[in-house]
Amino acid sequence: MTDETAHRAHAPATRLAHAGRDPQGGAFVNPPVIHASTVLFESVAQMKGKAATPARWTYGRRGTPTSEALERAISELEGAEGTVLTPSGASACGTALMSLLGAGDHLLMIDSVYAPTRNICDGILKRFGVETTYFDPAIGAAIAELIRPNTKVIFLEAPGSLTFEMPDVPAIAEVARDRDLLSVIDNTWATPLHFRPLDHGVDVSIMAATKYVVGHSDALIGTIACGRRAWKRVKSTHGDLGLFTGPDDMYLALRGLRTMGVRLAHHQRSALAIAEWFAARPEVARVLHPALPSDPGHAIWKRDFSGAAGLFGVVMKGGTEAAVSAFLDHLELFGLGYSWGGFESLAIHADPRAVRTAVPWREEGALLRFQIGLEDTGDLIADLDAGLARWRAALVV
Ligand SMILES: Cc1ncc(COP(=O)(O)O)c(C=O)c1O
Repeated sequence: MTDETAHRAHAPATRLAHAGRDPQGGAFVNPPVIHASTVLFESVAQMKGKAATPARWTYGRRGTPTSEALERAISELEGAEGTVLTPSGASACGTALMSLLGAGDHLLMIDSVYAPTRNICDGILKRFGVETTYFDPAIGAAIAELIRPNTKVIFLEAPGSLTFEMPDVPAIAEVARDRDLLSVIDNTWATPLHFRPLDHGVDVSIMAATKYVVGHSDALIGTIACGRRAWKRVKSTHGDLGLFTGPDDMYLALRGLRTMGVRLAHHQRSALAIAEWFAARPEVARVLHPALPSDPGHAIWKRDFSGAAGLFGVVMKGGTEAAVSAFLDHLELFGLGYSWGGFESLAIHADPRAVRTAVPWREEGALLRFQIGLEDTGDLIADLDAGLARWRAALVV
């Protein structure tokens, strides 16, 4: 089955296996990996768009069968008018913002946003005359009160990838539509498998495909999937900026996409089991995971999302640098690394207090973030258990 409309009616697992596949692709299941800058035309008339047979491809940067296969797959999964690919998730956030904002405009940005996205606002966008106001992730429809005559965009991340606060996306997207603004979301955590932002009124859905789509920690890539209201502007800015992604990385993303469903199911199951295990530990003050009924964002997550990722936070009871190091430095199966979404487990120690501006992060204890990989859940818990023993010993000294 290759017809796009038929794909939309299928279950997510089926869509992952078939999305973006070319009915004209011949015998091969996967698209060719085209390494190309120059594309040759048949005639001067064809170059000038005057030939009876128009050129299918014009220049490497303007698209190849490889880029088109991935773009089509993401558009199908997101229910988007069109998708562009960028060299990383961070550049996807920057490109979307630069496409939709100009000098004199005002941006509303969620306070729990990924720190490099905040840097884009406070750096590049500010230099080009765009003002940013950060807002409380729990604001909901009251975001209307922050809208100014020059506000053009509301940017969300659900949940925030460090503090896991869960905004009410449909309520905020509805305000954006009512006031003729555009809404954008960084949907890396949920992926369109667990949350389809465009179905909830959002105009642009971004993924750091580096994470779950690629899934193997070996490529950087971003996707910007757009609804009708944003597509032309994103497409043209992306083209003007000359952004293109390496064909091998596109291929890795497309390959990763085919197995993302089964990987996410394992990440989700294992992460939830480990989050519950942490929640019962005396060393832990709070677990930040919207799929836990105790989480403040749980009702929204349950209403809008069909699943969870493998990334969550743990607020410890107190903690010193020495205790954090004793816990994390000697974990056997968890690497210390900033990324997530790959097959391997990772941990970081983070301090959101340093960056928040709209609402302070009030938790006193050390915040640890865990990416739960595809290893056996029992092995991971045993590793963490030994880490907590080192944590306790370090606090006693
Ligand atoms: C939520 C979120 N968005 C975007 C990015 C950026 O992705 P990349 O590393 O591909 O630039 C990250 C990376 O950690 C992230 O966590």
